[in-house]
Amino acid sequence: MSLRMRLRVATTLLLALLPGVALAGPAPVEPPPGQVIKIWIRPSGSAERKYTEVDLSAKPKVEVTREDIQYPGEKMKYRGVPLRSLLEVMERTGRSDLVLLHFENGMSVPFPIDDLEVLKTLDPFIATELKVNDLWITAFPMVTKGPEGHDVRPLKFQRNKLVVATKVHPFTTRAAQADGFSPFSFTNTLTGIEYVRADEWYKQFDVGRTDGEKAGFVVFKSHCQYCHSVREVGGRYGIDFVKPAPVVERVGVHALYLHVRYRDRDAPEKGQMMPFFKDVTKDDVTALHAWLTFLTKARPVPYVAPPSL
Ligand code: HEC
Repeated sequence: MSLRMRLRVATTLLLALLPGVALAGPAPVEPPPGQVIKIWIRPSGSAERKYTEVDLSAKPKVEVTREDIQYPGEKMKYRGVPLRSLLEVMERTGRSDLVLLHFENGMSVPFPIDDLEVLKTLDPFIATELKVNDLWITAFPMVTKGPEGHDVRPLKFQRNKLVVATKVHPFTTRAAQADGFSPFSFTNTLTGIEYVRADEWYKQFDVGRTDGEKAGFVVFKSHCQYCHSVREVGGRYGIDFVKPAPVVERVGVHALYLHVRYRDRDAPEKGQMMPFFKDVTKDDVTALHAWLTFLTKARPVPYVAPPSL
């Protein structure tokens, strides 16, 4: 492990210890965040989601040596639970073929569960411990640098960290990947896994009629959904595109283009977290704007888990 990494581990450990000093009251009843993950399902025909809980600390642990895109250039030893092994034992309802991975910072990253190639390439690992100087610790180093040229507000992990070794994600574009974009560069503690049927789920968003509006949805799906929501459905890390005020009412096509494509010069000082996308063209943004405008007026299409076959 490099010196820089060691320092980061040391600072994180120190920060993890500090609040403990002040909290000498009665023992908390709730398990620490990140130890318990909510599994969300909807019974067939139902719009309402329910959850059960999985206690990671009670699961058998696996030890792996892995690279991780948030700790670039360093293979480290982790102990934890492969996402695959959790998915294998979970009940699937409503013909689910996709999980939405929910994170403490509001992000929501889709992950197809029937695509063996994707499962094998990404193979996300839910680490609950990290080995530092022959010691297993639960305090993961903060992430303070984003992918090339991006700044992130420090991402802190509580009791778990998703380890992903590649920036390939089936929903992102090749161009965005080549620029170093992966939604997993911005995620922190895993808090929930929500089962949905992909084609039905995306009907909530794919509401346009013209080619432009249709194309706008495709850009949203590949670039924005991880962090942004529409009427509170989707990622809750950035703003909602419709509520409380539709974003198209205050951001025109050109301003949206500049916002998506370039970073403000003082973005780091302002602590801005939104990545910029060099691969998104003016046409893409024109389409995105048309889609957003349509969506703002369209009636919401709530997701209902499809009946089983
Ligand atoms: C990794 C997360 C992330 C992704 C991906 C992302 N955003 Fe954002 N976005 C944010 C955050 C966080 C903010 C709040 C401002 C900030 O911190 O940069 C934001 C702010 C915005 C705003 C608000 C600007 C304003 O004036 O209030 C718009 C519009 C926006 N994003 C559009 C998009 C679009 C369009 C896409 C896809 C092409 C996208 N974002 C992808 C995280 C993201």
